[in-house]
Amino acid sequence: GQIGIDYRPQSRFTPPKNWINDPNGLVYHDGEYHLFYQYNPFGNVWGHMSWGHAVSKDLLHWEHLPVAIPEFTDSDGKTTAIFSGGAVVDKGNRSGLCPAGSKDCLIALYTGNVTAGDKQLVQYQNLAYSADKGRTWKQYDKNPILDIGSKEFRDPNAFWYEPEQKWVMATVKATEHRAAFYSSTDLKNWTLMSHFGPVGDTSKVWECPGLMQVPVHTEAGQPTGRSKWVLFISAGFPQKDYVGTQYFVGDFDGKTFTLDPAAQPKPVPSANDYAGALVDYGKDYYAAVPYNNLPASQPGPVMLGWHNNWAYGNELPTTPFKGAMSLPRQITLRQTQDGLQLVQQPIEGVRTLRGAQTNRQAIQLTSQSQTLEKATDNAYELEVELKPGTAKRVGLKLAKGTNEETILQYTDGKLQLDRRRSGNVSFSPRFPSVEEAPLRPKNGVIKLRIFVDKSVVEVFANDGERVITDLIFPTETAGGIDIFAEEGSAEFVKLTRWALKPIRQ
Ligand code: FRU
Repeated sequence: GQIGIDYRPQSRFTPPKNWINDPNGLVYHDGEYHLFYQYNPFGNVWGHMSWGHAVSKDLLHWEHLPVAIPEFTDSDGKTTAIFSGGAVVDKGNRSGLCPAGSKDCLIALYTGNVTAGDKQLVQYQNLAYSADKGRTWKQYDKNPILDIGSKEFRDPNAFWYEPEQKWVMATVKATEHRAAFYSSTDLKNWTLMSHFGPVGDTSKVWECPGLMQVPVHTEAGQPTGRSKWVLFISAGFPQKDYVGTQYFVGDFDGKTFTLDPAAQPKPVPSANDYAGALVDYGKDYYAAVPYNNLPASQPGPVMLGWHNNWAYGNELPTTPFKGAMSLPRQITLRQTQDGLQLVQQPIEGVRTLRGAQTNRQAIQLTSQSQTLEKATDNAYELEVELKPGTAKRVGLKLAKGTNEETILQYTDGKLQLDRRRSGNVSFSPRFPSVEEAPLRPKNGVIKLRIFVDKSVVEVFANDGERVITDLIFPTETAGGIDIFAEEGSAEFVKLTRWALKPIRQ
């Protein structure tokens, strides 16, 4: 990496060292939010997949714990890597695996990726259980719990389905571009209920399904009392060679997830698709899955995603760790003139990370730019309200150094994030890129909530209707912030900046 540059995000989860990918086993239990994650205990690139572990009381400040479920090798020489999966609270000990007399325990369902030497043998679903709040785990002695003889069958994610008093588990048949839904009353025996797909973008393998019930809000953000079911599938991005996440809106009757054609958000990633809208228009938000068993004080759905892209994941110029989790995102659906839209916003608690504040108002710019900050620590939140007016391009230059900048601009009905000159972009030919999300001013105004967090830029536009998340690697620790309007006039109505408080002690 760049000598002396600290790329570790200050306000989001990172491992002390080594490689991470997907969030796993997201569950709230007994006052703790658990974050398990795909982890390589032995190195700073993908390998030896195990479940790393951290806990939090607020989804923001994390306590690191030892590896929870390590890769293991059996006496026959076969190695099982612990691929992605979910965790649930087994209330009432329906599995019979909790200690006698206990009210509940944690059950993890994960993909065992079994290899012998260089040869991959199978991917099947395994169960592990913990009676001590996820600190130590036992493998179920009758594993696997679900084996269809496939090498591409993974990422189980189960949740309690209250109306029928059963668990529902989403999995993917990755290369068939299908989600497969199973049900169980004891977490050990699973029955196939239905499939969903292929549909939407099938140019990449399907991974990390997340099925959840999402409240529908009015355009003004008021609850309607109604909800729809949303299925997240990691895979699908309009630009070839990159991974991303798509979502489908529909209904779930306890057995089958059915697309609701009338409820499909616009636009879809490509003209040939009739369904499957993009969750995040940036390149670095993947494998997002929801929390289970959330308390009343933190209503769901809340999701975490992984800030990286398989297109260049192993090459990120950071040591001694690689990978970060997103800010926790609160999920709703909003009725808009473009139909229902997925809305993602940082959970309310993220406001507690706001430090020293600077305010500016009513800055008019006509074909000119202005420096807001010369050299500020690249760890801040910005709230911007701007009227694009007649300007052809209007926006901000973030992490601006002597010879570099990350440009966030609105132009021609689109929000763009340009990281081609953001600093170190040469570690992979696939890294330099421009992201683009359709965006419409509301009453002439565009709202942006921007987090610049060392090597992460996470932009929530129009109260979370569009999100663009990208990694950047500036070569200077302190960067400038410029605002600009090109070929016309624009107004920055409000501009507030907060320093981000670090979450580490
Ligand atoms: C998604 C993924 C999953 C798999 C895991 C392996 O990023 O490819 O499908 O279980 O990573 O680490």
